[in-house]
Amino acid sequence: MANIVGAITTTHVPSIGGAIAKGLQQDPYWKPFFDGFPKARDWVAKVKPDVVVMVYNDHGLNFFLDKQPTFAIGCAPEYKSVDEGWGIPTMPAFQGDEDLSWHLQKSLIGDEFDMVTCQEMVVDHAFTLPMAFLWPDQKWPVRVVPINVNTVLFPLPSAKRCYKLGQAIGRAVAAYDKNINVLVMGTGGLSHQLEGKRAGHINKEFDLKFMDSMVNDPTWATQYSDVDLVEHTGTQGVELLNWLVARGALTGKVTLEHSNFHIPISNTAAATMVLANN
Ligand code: DHB
Ligand code: FE
Repeated sequence: MANIVGAITTTHVPSIGGAIAKGLQQDPYWKPFFDGFPKARDWVAKVKPDVVVMVYNDHGLNFFLDKQPTFAIGCAPEYKSVDEGWGIPTMPAFQGDEDLSWHLQKSLIGDEFDMVTCQEMVVDHAFTLPMAFLWPDQKWPVRVVPINVNTVLFPLPSAKRCYKLGQAIGRAVAAYDKNINVLVMGTGGLSHQLEGKRAGHINKEFDLKFMDSMVNDPTWATQYSDVDLVEHTGTQGVELLNWLVARGALTGKVTLEHSNFHIPISNTAAATMVLANN
């Protein structure tokens, strides 16, 4: 039986990749963000995941405005990092767990989540940076399964639906017959808006309430529609839907191991949470 050890949720701002490439982790601007990770890494070393199920949104590499699946799953042997610029070194490719991918694909579709199945997929900062936060040497010790959520093009999947997708992932992992440890990750957010009149919008009060709900009241955010979430958190703040999927996958007693919140990194309220699932 596969075991979900917990969830790690974190921000995925591309310029953090530039900071890593230049070794700026101790620079006063970046330090408050990078300081969020030593404790997360200690916890990961303790729980020893074999696989990361990474819930994130694609920023135009695989899906653009012409085709945008609401939910998609990678079932590829390998995922290459093909990010969108900053002149940063390319990260080593990520090894897929094809067997777990196909198991999840079958189980989720059987559970009425009509996933788009991707036998080829490239990954961007929303996938690569959170991996580099946990494994800074970029020698990935885990296999991966990417799960994409459309947080880009309206209508978005509702928060309620995202939470249910997470629950379905949790059931599917629990039914997997291999004895492996699975870490679920959710990336993006928290509040940010990159364009328009409200560019720079940040909502600390909402973010902190949402972070509290991730521990104590995980369905709290499901009261909001996609437009409500944009109003509160900004057009890209809706990436918190990825966090909600990750939280939904936790089936046991959930405890907060660690969290970090810092405003701003670029235009974003930057946050990290480590949730154990016992
Ligand atoms: C920023 C944040 C994001 O989530 C993203 O995908 C791109 C840019 C930013 O704050 O700069
Ligand atoms: Fe993003």
